[in-house]
Amino acid sequence: MNTTPWLRSHTCGELRAEHVGQRVVLNGWVDARRNHGGIFFVDLRDRYGKTQVTLSAEIAETVRFSAEWVLAVEGTVVRREPMNVNPDRPTGEIDVRAEKVTVLSESRIPPFEVLDQLDTAVETRLRHRYIDLRRAPLQRNLLHRSRFISAMRRAFEAQDFAEVETPILTRATPEGARDYLVPSRVHPGEFYALPQSPQIFKQLLMVAGMDRYFQVARCFRDEDLRADRQPEFTQLDMEMSFVDEERIFAVWEAVLVRTFREAMGVELTIPFPRLTWDECMDRYGVDKPDTRFGLELVDIAAWAKTAEFPVFQEALASGGRTLGLVVPGGGELLSRKDITALEELAKNFGAKGLAWWKASAEGGAGPLARFAAGTKAAELMQVAGAKEGDLLLCAAGKASQARRVLGELRVHLGRKLGLVKPGWNLLWVTHFPMFEYDEEAGRWFSAHHPFTAPVGDLSEIPADLGVMRSRAYDLVMNGWELGSGSIRIHRQDVQARVFQLLGISAEEQSAKFGFLLEALAHGAPPHGGFAVGLDRIVALTLGLDSIRDVVAFPKTASASDLLCEAPSKVAPSQLAEVHVALAGRALLEAGKSDAGTAAARPPSP
Ligand code: AMO
Ligand code: AMP
Repeated sequence: MNTTPWLRSHTCGELRAEHVGQRVVLNGWVDARRNHGGIFFVDLRDRYGKTQVTLSAEIAETVRFSAEWVLAVEGTVVRREPMNVNPDRPTGEIDVRAEKVTVLSESRIPPFEVLDQLDTAVETRLRHRYIDLRRAPLQRNLLHRSRFISAMRRAFEAQDFAEVETPILTRATPEGARDYLVPSRVHPGEFYALPQSPQIFKQLLMVAGMDRYFQVARCFRDEDLRADRQPEFTQLDMEMSFVDEERIFAVWEAVLVRTFREAMGVELTIPFPRLTWDECMDRYGVDKPDTRFGLELVDIAAWAKTAEFPVFQEALASGGRTLGLVVPGGGELLSRKDITALEELAKNFGAKGLAWWKASAEGGAGPLARFAAGTKAAELMQVAGAKEGDLLLCAAGKASQARRVLGELRVHLGRKLGLVKPGWNLLWVTHFPMFEYDEEAGRWFSAHHPFTAPVGDLSEIPADLGVMRSRAYDLVMNGWELGSGSIRIHRQDVQARVFQLLGISAEEQSAKFGFLLEALAHGAPPHGGFAVGLDRIVALTLGLDSIRDVVAFPKTASASDLLCEAPSKVAPSQLAEVHVALAGRALLEAGKSDAGTAAARPPSP
């Protein structure tokens, strides 16, 4: 027996023609209201859908409600007249004719309407996220995310992975971003760091013999935010022992095949293509290429060497590159105005200029035409792989710069010219550089992280660390980096040597990573792992540009939570408890707000 009379018998997405004649109770929010010749129509909404409720004039007079109020409606399911059937809605064949309406909860006038398409300012939406989340697209995103995580869990469990939780209050892990710090009350002057990833702990779990670990892991990074970054985000993190790259790729391919199948009904083709970093950069100019279209970069050095174009000569003489991009039929497809826009775009990406040529054996047109006279025209077409009527775009300069410019133009043109085919193009990029030089800091950093194994042993260290390759790999989909990982260093001496190459002194090594080095000296199995950015893969598979729409309570670009107003000031007594005193700008800010909030603060004990 139902002791609570208003409890729902069905959800708002459930009723169909087969329920006609049944007495039902629905619970939900008031979506839209209309009045048609004395009959009142109300759409009642919940997570499962919307059902149209009809109210007679008598009932409508006895009960008062408005948008976003929460109602219980008791009534009978009736078939709609054929002309009133709404084929766009699963419940579109029926109405519920209300016999009793109970208000379960009133609502203030909402700050914005709960519509699928909304142009309300993001700040307003985030401040009232609980209303924003009532919208169907956001509910769909969160449900898709939930299905994705649960499919991934099943896929890991099916391969003998054990889910282990690692600490949130820990010490700094070097993933390259700034740490979020938490002051200790018990240890004055000492701080925990929130993990940037479970990296060190998962390696320790391998030393501990866990063999196959995974975790849905929250990570915290205090870095500049972009559309594809949040200060706290979730990784599907894993690590395994006694493996090489191919074993790890095979595990992930099985996980992703199953996840795409179960969460999306999509069949992925495995194995995913593999590309070394060097080949990837040569062909696409970036380490996360969108491989749904061609338009690959070409090297025109063979032509440029003997062409009398000073810009190209200088680039080659100073160890740079002369790279090109051939746009098939581009001579016709792109107007002079389009090309000027491309030149501007190239400059935005740091190019000094963009040389172009409408390819023709007759000499063609554009800034390069002067240097493509006589036999040099046919030669350039041959070197670039261009046909009559194609457009060749060239960038000369440092390899990294020329690649970046053309890599970005490639993506821009792929979209503009409609070359991007729909689909899920997954790709492993392997053999990343081991080290990257940071001009500003004037030193070498790990390109992935310092626990990544080098390719080969370290018996010979090249003079230029930039040529060393590592056993790091990325998974790329449609131009996004989905995840990263590597085979790790499992020998203490190799790890210490890599720290040394990074300029980390022996004292600093033992102060920061002593526990890891010690663990590696206690029988560490060869191991490796990988982590996928869950927010990214979920956003991408929903066709969204920003990960904010797949996070229930996201932060703004300035890392604020507008809903609960975090970060926030705390009472001086609370600061004193954790032995923290404000200084500089923080002190000034606190002083300003003190005047306003002094009265609101509870009296000190
Ligand atoms: P990495 O730092 O490359 O590797 O991170 C792995 C993946 O996490 C996602 N990601 C982010 N997503 C949202 N917001 C962010 N701020 C953010 N930063 C990273 C990306 C990225 O590919 N411990 C290593 C993994 C390993 O070696 O096993 C790590 O964290 O999708
Ligand atoms: P300039 O020598 O500056 O008159 O440039 C002649 C042509 O070369 C113009 O079309 C420039 O856009 C182009 N150009 C200049 N620098 C570069 C470069 N680094 N790479 C490619 N083209 C360039």
